Amino acid sequence: MSDTNTILKAEGVFKSYRMGQSDVKVLKGANLSIEQGQFVGIIGASGSGKSTLLHILGALDRPDSGIVSYKERDLNRESTGRLNRFRNETIGFVFQFYHLLDELNVLENVLLPKMAGCSAFGWLVCRSAAKKRAKGLLEEFGLGERIGHKPYQLSGGERQRVAIARALMNEPEVLLADEPTGNLDSETGNGILEVLRRLHDTGQTVVMVTHDDKVAEWAGRVIKLVDGMVEEQAWT
Ligand SMILES: Nc1ncnc2c1ncn2[C@@H]1O[C@H](COP(=O)(O)OP(=O)(O)O)[C@@H](O)[C@H]1O
Ligand SMILES: [Mg+2]
Repeated sequence: MSDTNTILKAEGVFKSYRMGQSDVKVLKGANLSIEQGQFVGIIGASGSGKSTLLHILGALDRPDSGIVSYKERDLNRESTGRLNRFRNETIGFVFQFYHLLDELNVLENVLLPKMAGCSAFGWLVCRSAAKKRAKGLLEEFGLGERIGHKPYQLSGGERQRVAIARALMNEPEVLLADEPTGNLDSETGNGILEVLRRLHDTGQTVVMVTHDDKVAEWAGRVIKLVDGMVEEQAWT
């Protein structure tokens, strides 16, 4: 049955990692449908497979079996090149440890996803609009005075806001955040969660992984990974 509001879907997803002679079975038939505009929290114990599931949903990794689809487009059927392009255009990632490049300044970090999706000529054409958007995002997140700074000159909260701006650069359909507050004190973390909530209020689909129930409460819908499967927790 087709559901026009479903944006990302995992059906019967299995994933194992080879460790020496044995397989670590992480996902064992996980099912999950994410609807457009939802703010979904994924909780679960450390090692339960939250990051694995998020990476699979965002096409950073492929499942061993099962289907992952974006708006009914089966991602398993896509070549790696097409998948990279899909990810760059459609998915925004935010990580616990920011993953910013220290040799680039804040503005350049935010511009990276746009540059990565452009040919050299394409970049000449779209550079000025891209800079305008990047600066606009940084101003929105209170970083207008920091665009020339290097990431190591910023606080943790500022770095994470830069990472969110970078994730939003290509106007992704889905924002995926893996423990985005995991490296921050609770007050700074709440500032990041407020940013995510504001984005959700403007219609952005957000999927956030956390091991912390208090953090998950910020999401409207919470699902839990238990024994490689998905359990629905709550809607608020
Ligand atoms: N690349 C990998 N190679 C081997 N084992 C891995 C790899 N990535 C994750 N794992 C293992 O898979 C399990 C789930 O990992 P992960 O998805 O990172 O869990 P979580 O994010 O919930 O802490 C853990 O036992 C972890 O050690
Ligand atoms: Mg993890």
